[in-house]
Amino acid sequence: AAVGKPSPHESAQLHVLGQATYTDDIAELQGTLHAALGLSQKPHARITAMELSQVRASAGVTAVFTAQDIPGTNDCGPIIHDDPILAESLVQYVGQPIFIVVADTHDHARRAARLAQVTYEELPAIMTPQAAKAAQSYVLPPMRLTRGDCQAAFENAPHVVKGQLYVGGQEQFYLEGQISYAIPKEAQGMLVLCSTQHPSEMQHVVAHALGVHSHNITVECRRMGGGFGGKESQSALWAAAASIAASKLKRPVKLRADRDDDMLVTGKRHCFYYEYEVGYDETGKILAAKVDMTSRAGYSADLSGPVATRAVCHFDNTYYLSAVDIRAACGKTNTQSNTAFRGFGGPQGAIAIEYVIDEIARHLRRDALDIRLLNFYGRDGSDGRNVTPYGQVIVDNVIHELVAELEESSDYRARRLAIDAWNEASPVLKKGLAFTPLKFGIAFNVSHLNQAGALVHVYVDGSVLVNHGGTEMGQGINTKVMQVVAHELGLDLERVRATATDTSKVANTSATAASTGADLNGKAAQDAARQIRARLSDYAVKLYGGAAADVRFFDNHIHVNGHVVPFPELVQKAYLARVQLWSDGFYATPGLHWDAKTMTGHPFSYYAYGAAVAEVVVDTLTGEWKLLRADALYDAGQSLNPAIDIGQVEGAFIQGMGWLTTEELWWNGAGKLMTHAPSTYKIPGISDCPEDFRVRLFQNRNVEDSIHRSKAVGEPPLLLPFSVFFAIRDAISSVGGHAVQPPLNAPATSEEILKAVMAVRAAA
Ligand code: MTE
Ligand code: MOS
Repeated sequence: AAVGKPSPHESAQLHVLGQATYTDDIAELQGTLHAALGLSQKPHARITAMELSQVRASAGVTAVFTAQDIPGTNDCGPIIHDDPILAESLVQYVGQPIFIVVADTHDHARRAARLAQVTYEELPAIMTPQAAKAAQSYVLPPMRLTRGDCQAAFENAPHVVKGQLYVGGQEQFYLEGQISYAIPKEAQGMLVLCSTQHPSEMQHVVAHALGVHSHNITVECRRMGGGFGGKESQSALWAAAASIAASKLKRPVKLRADRDDDMLVTGKRHCFYYEYEVGYDETGKILAAKVDMTSRAGYSADLSGPVATRAVCHFDNTYYLSAVDIRAACGKTNTQSNTAFRGFGGPQGAIAIEYVIDEIARHLRRDALDIRLLNFYGRDGSDGRNVTPYGQVIVDNVIHELVAELEESSDYRARRLAIDAWNEASPVLKKGLAFTPLKFGIAFNVSHLNQAGALVHVYVDGSVLVNHGGTEMGQGINTKVMQVVAHELGLDLERVRATATDTSKVANTSATAASTGADLNGKAAQDAARQIRARLSDYAVKLYGGAAADVRFFDNHIHVNGHVVPFPELVQKAYLARVQLWSDGFYATPGLHWDAKTMTGHPFSYYAYGAAVAEVVVDTLTGEWKLLRADALYDAGQSLNPAIDIGQVEGAFIQGMGWLTTEELWWNGAGKLMTHAPSTYKIPGISDCPEDFRVRLFQNRNVEDSIHRSKAVGEPPLLLPFSVFFAIRDAISSVGGHAVQPPLNAPATSEEILKAVMAVRAAA
């Protein structure tokens, strides 16, 4: 069977040979022009004058467009329409696009874009979530989720831990930058080749910007060189700008951001500022938890609301919190409009409670793993500890078994003792160890997004083509969907191909996001393939007798009433008999509901679980550190493809480690993001991966009727490297004999580590 096999990614060979076609590799049509964006140089200002004559006169320039030239609506915001494609008179961050310049070459367009003379009248800028909170400057009304009697629980709590935490944002750093290539078609038509996780939304934004109906616009994406959430909504600006220019000039226009512009213009993971207060008893059991989180939303709402909602719904992580008061606000700041990034607020919610547990353990001088175990959701409903703060009943909790397995396989307890002994004898280098669990809700919180469609074509030679609403960004969705289709029709994977995502094939698709891509589109493709299989079964019974229900499809053959017929042979006969050999398919996840006002409901189809152990060594004189060993165990249910899933876990682990350690976004006093290239922004490299990296999948079967009882894998493992952050904190803590709470914020850069070491030394 094709499902469950560790098949390589369907494009693996093309990837390594450099033959996979990304948007910029598609052969350009004759007459193609190239665009670049002119960017605001001020974080918050009124434009009083804009002199673009030098831009127009620059070599190779064909045209310059400003907001006034947009034929339709000047908006590319996904939910709240507060995102102009081009700023009109108000600019709200350094990097905000104010005009489009089109030239004969990419280089000419970029050079010309620098020649604008813009006069600004500066306004006060808000740069941090703390400042936004102080000024009550929000892009959306703050949200709040409460359960139980927090006040009373605090009054009865023997201990209270209180503090603040700051966790920085993160640049998606997809290897392929934002790009759109817009090609005018007959009449009002436009074909947009776009690197996007959300072709349907690109279609809608382009249609609105051009003032035409959606049926005129086709958006196509064969693959992305990574999206990581950064191309869910924020590919829209590029799609719209390229399309506006193409429609005005009636010529194909390509807009490809170079890395600096991409980082200056587009939003990132939200950084979060937290104020927390947690009451607990002598054993470390949490009695009451209060948290107030403020994110750096940037200048507009974008997806900040849903990101904050997911943060609220993941503050509990794997813990039963009987009394909570969770507040979340999206701080309006004069920075890039922050957006989706792998985990979508989930990691930001969960890290706060993990930080608190780390503090409780240190205060009680207990192993943090024991405090974690004590607070886990119950194994089943018997102790009443299985309802989340937002009211969803947990019916699939495997965290106890999963953690027990990892505790054993990682040799956690013995290594803890060994590290304590090692640190005794090592005054400068200090080792640290941490064990962190994860639980992640799978589904879009907004129920209606949980739908998908697919088309499966069986050609007369017996080869199969599948098209679905999901997008390929390297995560292997096409491989998984192909496996599902091959499985239904009893074919080898080689007989099935997947094609580019295309709004003219499957309509009204949801973003490939929230880790639901394979879940939703796999089910839709299965539905389509099953319809074809049913028709072929009926037809086979007509030819060979027997019962349709007994017809079997495997090994590239149809097994019917004692006959074994090669798949292509039956298909050819079926064609001649005028049997429909293609089908659409559809899926909507059942049982979901969510009340955004009360923040309660059943937003998730199921939960994915995991845990990791990290061991680090920190140089307490320089703040340098190294991850020595990492063990990760992840619950992918009955994995559709263990090779791809392990790759996803490894990738998410290292990406999350970068977020919490080396990746620092830094804005200067004039409000400009200065870390806008790999020279100043440090993502993990191969040498940052631990030499000893043990990633395994937990043997499980989804209790929900998900596609082949698998579980999503895209985002949840991003929480596994919490273990790295807390291992670093543990190493720092050893400097003060574990008697002082190290004041460590994320990212734990070497400077941050050194500061924390000095603070611990001073207090010890
Ligand atoms: N893996 C790769 N290689 N590239 C990516 O851009 N994006 C992640 C994750 N894994 C990403 C990735 C994010 S943010 C999500 S939501 C999921 O993949 C989306 O794909 P899926 O739903 O098919 O898992
Ligand atoms: Mo992923 S952040 O949901 O695109």
